[in-house]
This record gives sequence, structure tokens and C-alpha cells, in this order.
Amino acid sequence: MATVSGVLGSTSAVLVSLFILRKVVPWIYQNLIGPKVFGCRINVKKLGEWALITGATDGIGKAYAKALAKRGLNVILVSRTLSKLEDVAKEIETEFKVRTMVIDADFTGGAEIYEKIRSRIENLEIGVLVNNVGMSYANPEYLLDLPDSEKLIQNLLNCNVLSVTRMCQLVMPGMVARHAGLIVNISSLSAVIPAPLLTVYAASKAYMDKLSEDLGTEYAKHNISVQSVLPGPVATNMSKIRKSTWMACSPKVFVDSAISTLGHARHTTGYFPHALLELAINTFSFLLPRLVERLTLNTMQNIRARAMKKSSSNTRNTAGAQEASKLTSAAAGSS
Ligand SMILES: NC(=O)c1ccc[n+]([C@@H]2O[C@H](COP(=O)([O-])OP(=O)(O)OC[C@H]3O[C@@H](n4cnc5c(N)ncnc54)[C@H](OP(=O)(O)O)[C@@H]3O)[C@@H](O)[C@H]2O)c1
Repeated sequence: MATVSGVLGSTSAVLVSLFILRKVVPWIYQNLIGPKVFGCRINVKKLGEWALITGATDGIGKAYAKALAKRGLNVILVSRTLSKLEDVAKEIETEFKVRTMVIDADFTGGAEIYEKIRSRIENLEIGVLVNNVGMSYANPEYLLDLPDSEKLIQNLLNCNVLSVTRMCQLVMPGMVARHAGLIVNISSLSAVIPAPLLTVYAASKAYMDKLSEDLGTEYAKHNISVQSVLPGPVATNMSKIRKSTWMACSPKVFVDSAISTLGHARHTTGYFPHALLELAINTFSFLLPRLVERLTLNTMQNIRARAMKKSSSNTRNTAGAQEASKLTSAAAGSS
């Protein structure tokens, strides 16, 4: 007759095996074996002649533009600054011998910019769309203390939420008609870990992640893949990390790694050290949620305090320099 401890033992064994099969094996496959052993499983060149990348003149967006051009795709670069766009387009044409198109558009804007983008891309066969553009706060901040908060929140939501939604609407009809396409949405690790003092940014990135997941399910029958990429720290202008390290890697290292996850994972950090970071934070959060929230809040408060100190000392220095220059002019005038 089965004993209580025997039943408990076999139930635990079944639960542990299920956990390993459902969670551990896919995690190892998606973060290590798939990308590192098999590499990118989507032939992007077969999806269409062009790739469109938003926020394409710097950081992660520029690295995606180059990586896709290297695979033979013509690239449409969309960003705010025309001179930067023209420089990057020239660099890509020279290096990879592909065609480029540039569109200057400020994604903090509303509906008007999408008409301009639509008219420029309407006859192009776009196989890959990378929704990369995004903005955050200048520094971590409490919601009620955000500087110029109404404008900042509107700009942030337009840039991070409206842009990904409207760009999908603009580009996907062609993909549906050709029965082929890939959409890569650059979300952020902050969407799935505690992110106090970055609330609107992190929530906007969670929107991107959810949109990607359900859009992928909706359009799978049209052979359109949707991948949500949730980077941790990458050394770019936005993160203000100047020097790359193993954890805060360069945009090129990040994108080379993220591209190797295509066809293996629909939801990925894109880079193995960031997957380890996510695992560590979420395991710790699962065990001690309140402590992790507290520690994250303390860290963000410290970053905020340092930023405020730096900005007030900059203001004092500027005021001091202005005062000194006034005194010098006055002295020069009276002599
Ligand atoms: N870096 C990180 O640690 C990190 C971590 C997680 C997620 N991410 C996400 O990755 C994406 C790219 O970030 P990044 O770090 O690579 O940024 P970045 O190096 O600062 O580059 C931003 C790019 O977007 C363009 N851009 C900025 N604001 C724009 C606007 N309003 N309209 C049109 N274009 C605009 C910039 O060009 P112009 O200056 O010419 O406009 C530039 O090409 C973002 O969505 C970000 O949230 C980054």
C-alpha cells in the first residue's frame, strides 16, 4: 500500500519534471543552444527587399540597420535628424552595397507623421520592420515630480506606444499580401522587472511586449513572425553608459546576439548576460518580492539623488560663470 510520503515523493518528482520540461529546457534552448549552436533561423532576405528601422541613426537601431544591410536587405532609416540620417545612409551604402532611403520624422508627434511615412513607403516591399525608437526620462523620477510632466508623458507615449502600433498598421498589409514578414519590437527588461521611478517608460515597454505577443498569435497564419526583444543595459546615448562591458555591451554585440535568437524565441532579452540578469531578478523577486522592490527603489532613489546633485552643481557653475562674465564686462566697460 502506498504511504503518504511515497505519494508526496512521486507528486514532487512529477512537478519537478514538469517544471524542468516547461521552463528550464525551453530557457536553455532559447537563450543558449538555439542562438549559439544553430544561429538565426529566419532568412530575412526572403521576406522582402527592404527593412524599415525606426530610431536608426544611433545605438541599437543603427546596429540593426547595419546587421540587416549586411544580410543583403535595402534599408529605410527613420529618425528625427536629417543630417544624421544622410550620414548613416552613406555609411551603410558604402559598407554593404545596398540601397537606402531616409525619412525624417519625430515620433513624439501625433497622427500627422504617419501620413508622411505612408506616402514614402507605399510601393516598397518591406519584409522586416524593426520598431526600435523609444524615449525615457532624463533621470529616474517620481511620477508627480516629472519635469514638464504633461508634455513629457504625451511625447513618451507617442514615441513608445503610438509609434509601434501605427508602424505595424502601415507596414503589415504588404506583409499579409505577400504572406511573409518579420516584426522586431524593441521593448526593455524594465517591462518585466520592478522599475520604480521609471513607471511610464516601463509601462510603455510592457505595452510593446504584450502587443508583440498577441500580434504574433493573430498573424502567424499569414506567416508573419513578431519578436519582442527586452534588452538590459546597452552602452548607448540613451543609457548614458559610455564604456561597454560584458553586461552593458555595445549595440553591435547586442544586435549580433539578438539576431541569432530569431526563429528560436518570440520573447527574449536578446543577449545571454541579460537573460541571466532577468533570471536572477525574477527568481529573487519570486522568493522575496517586497525586498526586491525595496532594493530597486533604493537604487533608483540613489541614481536620482546623484543626478539632482550633478544638475544643481552644473546650474551653480553656469550661474557663477555668467556672474563672472558680467563682472568682467562691467570692469572692461568702466576702464
Ligand atoms: N540602451 C539601453 O540600455 C536600452 C535598454 C533597454 C531598452 N532600450 C530601448 O532600445 C531602443 C533604442 O535605444 P538606444 O539606447 O539605442 O537609443 P539611442 O542610442 O539614444 O538612439 C536613439 C535613436 O532614436 C532616434 N530618436 C530618438 N528620439 C526620436 C524621436 N522622437 N523621433 C525619431 N527618432 C528618434 C535617435 O536619432 P535622432 O537623435 O536623430 O532623433 C537615434 O537614432 C529604445 O526603444 C530603448 O527604449 C535601450
